[in-house]
Amino acid sequence: MATFKAIRIDKADKGTTAALTQFDDAELMDGDVTVRVEWSTLNYKDGLALTGKAPVVRRFPMIAGIDFAGTVEQSSHPAWKAGDKVVCNGWGMGETHLGAYAEKARVKGDWLVRLPDGISARDAMAVGTAGYTAMLSVLALEKHGLTPKSGPVVVTGAAGGVGSVAIAVLSKLGYHVIASTGRMSEADYLKGLGATR
Ligand SMILES: NC(=O)c1ccc[n+]([C@@H]2O[C@H](COP(=O)([O-])OP(=O)(O)OC[C@H]3O[C@@H](n4cnc5c(N)ncnc54)[C@H](OP(=O)(O)O)[C@@H]3O)[C@@H](O)[C@H]2O)c1
Repeated sequence: MATFKAIRIDKADKGTTAALTQFDDAELMDGDVTVRVEWSTLNYKDGLALTGKAPVVRRFPMIAGIDFAGTVEQSSHPAWKAGDKVVCNGWGMGETHLGAYAEKARVKGDWLVRLPDGISARDAMAVGTAGYTAMLSVLALEKHGLTPKSGPVVVTGAAGGVGSVAIAVLSKLGYHVIASTGRMSEADYLKGLGATR
């Protein structure tokens, strides 16, 4: 039987355990695309899942990891074929669906986003789900009619994962960005990302 390496979370008498193990291909969950995972991120949620500090994991065994970038190995989904470069964020991975801290993931093709040419799998995961969340937030603001002419934008939690990418994206789009942070030591970093104040 084929196996692959994965960080597996199991239920224990008290709490949960997490360990690097061999996982059987046969245990992969339903999905129409199998991806060779190349990079993932360490999201706050992954920290909670791995340490068992919050009930993030909803089925056992679980493979941790809420996002990945990689290459399609097998697909019966019309949009994807072997060799395609893809990204997946969320969709319950690492919570209800076996996740990304593994050599392989099987997911629904509808969850995948094509990795654009010129962005490596590593770069995509450097942006990660925090950056993806920041971009979704900026898109939502735009959908509500916000433009750079609407006035300055304050980004709270500025030095955090979502905040820092939000600053970079907003400033690139021409917004006057003000960063709100509890860490004044990060002022130069935040100005470097495009915050004016
Ligand atoms: N990361 C994701 O994938 C994701 C997805 C969906 C939603 N979210 C939500 O987006 C928010 C930010 O997530 P994140 O991943 O960017 O977390 P993070 O990297 O931990 O950043 C959170 C930031 O919030 C600020 N902060 C922390 N405690 C605070 C307090 N007591 N009072 C005021 N500010 C405080 C800090 O900003 P300074 O360092 O600038 O002081 C901290 O860096 C969270 O509410 C999270 O649940 C995140």
